[in-house]
Amino acid sequence: MLTLGIESTCDETAASVVCDGKILSNVVSSQIDLHTLYGGVVPELACRRHIDCITQVIQKAVSDAKTTLQDIDVIAVAHGPGLIGAILIGLNAAKALAYALKKPLVCVNHVEAHLYAAIMEHPQLQFPALGLVLSGGHSSLIEIQGLGSYKLLGQTVDDAIGETFDKVATLLGLSYPGGPAIEKLASTVTGSSFTFPKGQVKNRPLDFSFSGLKTAALYAIKGQGADKHAPIRIAEEQKAEVAYAFQEAAFDAVLEKTRLAWETGSYKSILLGGGVTNNRRLRQRFEQAGLPTYFPPFHMTLDNAAMIAGLGEKQYLLRGSDSLSTKAQTRIAF
Ligand code: KG4
Ligand code: ZN
Repeated sequence: MLTLGIESTCDETAASVVCDGKILSNVVSSQIDLHTLYGGVVPELACRRHIDCITQVIQKAVSDAKTTLQDIDVIAVAHGPGLIGAILIGLNAAKALAYALKKPLVCVNHVEAHLYAAIMEHPQLQFPALGLVLSGGHSSLIEIQGLGSYKLLGQTVDDAIGETFDKVATLLGLSYPGGPAIEKLASTVTGSSFTFPKGQVKNRPLDFSFSGLKTAALYAIKGQGADKHAPIRIAEEQKAEVAYAFQEAAFDAVLEKTRLAWETGSYKSILLGGGVTNNRRLRQRFEQAGLPTYFPPFHMTLDNAAMIAGLGEKQYLLRGSDSLSTKAQTRIAF
């Protein structure tokens, strides 16, 4: 069975063809160049770029897979969560293809697909599992009884972890996207004279809070009580120490909450997904923790359509297709 997956929920236009769980093509057109100037995603610009390149991205995914649109069996698309205008472009392209080619349409949850990337890579992993989505828009701990059976255990009450990396990178004068820039700078030192608090939420030990950590980094970089537009007050060498201490504090919180959920439940594995799982230090910290952790391969951590096609294929086999009138959703509750 050949499934075409389409992804456009934020700033990557992506398409992929998957055949029975095997990735035949994985095309991603990144918009980093477009948003760098603004230090973050500008929704209107993202939508225009999606419109400009979605057709070519789909055509390339189909030709890289050495197939044709007529031979595709299922069209899968992420219908949320994300930026409404951006989602609509991929969703409408998928609906148009499904209608014209008379193929079933399957709408998938982008966040669920981030978790599915790890399952796709490690089909042997056992359930019930603890899932962690660490991305630009999410920091969530999820109990997974099996595919399609989820319970949200905890989530961020303010900024998402990837968003915090991006904001702290901007404070340090680093380029967008901030996650890779912070990881690179932090790796140039082995310790730090700075210490930052790992966020806690009163009486909700499995929820995340990153705004206190962000403010602590702001004050370390620009002075106590400073505003984010104030000039940087630390020397060049100290920036790496701030990046290091920030990254460790963010991951301390992730590990602490994961361990707590792991110890209070009876899970057989932990699986992670989302752009922040691209971070090698995060992977090392989980390895050192000695937990049975499964990560997606690096080419499936950031937004991509292989995870959409993979989950779409499974979803189609389990519960069939979705209506052509399925709506785009900016939020989807777990
Ligand atoms: O999953 P993703 O591509 O998009 C969303 O669904 O949000 O995640 C993007 C986020 C950005 O905030 C980016 O800074 C972060 O993932 N990220 C990283 C790294 N690579 C990407 N954060 C920390 N370390 C990295 N190496
Ligand atoms: Zn994502």
